[in-house]
Amino acid sequence: MAKATNTKKGASTPAPKKRPASTEPALLEFFVGEIKDIYWAEKKLTKTLPKMQKAATSTELAKAIGGHLEVTKTHVVRLEQVFDLLGKKPQAKKCDAMEGITKEGESILEETEKGSSTRDVGIILASQKVEHYEIATYGCLAQLANTLGLTEIADLLSQTLAEEKEADETLTSIAEHDINYQASGEE
Ligand SMILES: [Fe+2]
Ligand SMILES: [Fe+2]
Repeated sequence: MAKATNTKKGASTPAPKKRPASTEPALLEFFVGEIKDIYWAEKKLTKTLPKMQKAATSTELAKAIGGHLEVTKTHVVRLEQVFDLLGKKPQAKKCDAMEGITKEGESILEETEKGSSTRDVGIILASQKVEHYEIATYGCLAQLANTLGLTEIADLLSQTLAEEKEADETLTSIAEHDINYQASGEE
């Protein structure tokens, strides 16, 4: 039997939720929410990176992580500038993704032997997952800021994006030139 159809035009489409007139546009509100999310993630990383740095076997890797820790602290400050430009107080919203990625990194430390190159391979893997998450986030948010006409904010986010890409490339280079090969010879 054919389904009864409602002939009334537009009847099947739910009406958009009414928003109070005083609130900001939905896209801007979404953007601010995502800034709160990455703010939480960056702050979390300022606590996680020292653990990774300490656990690294290779001094080259430890140095690279230490360098990115300092850069990460400037990312936190940059996001505080973004909040300021938005006329808002800095506020962090828990980022479930970053919590998951950093948890995974910590379990890699538990599963690998101290002083081994295999552990470094794991640290690089976990760190690159972090960087790729950040690259995706800052890439989208810089673009959204441009769409919203927030050019100064877009510039700040693009600066951070470039630094995340640089960190990712450094990790790739350390893995390819050194650590992966050393780990392949471990028992
Ligand atoms: Fe960052
Ligand atoms: Fe990063």
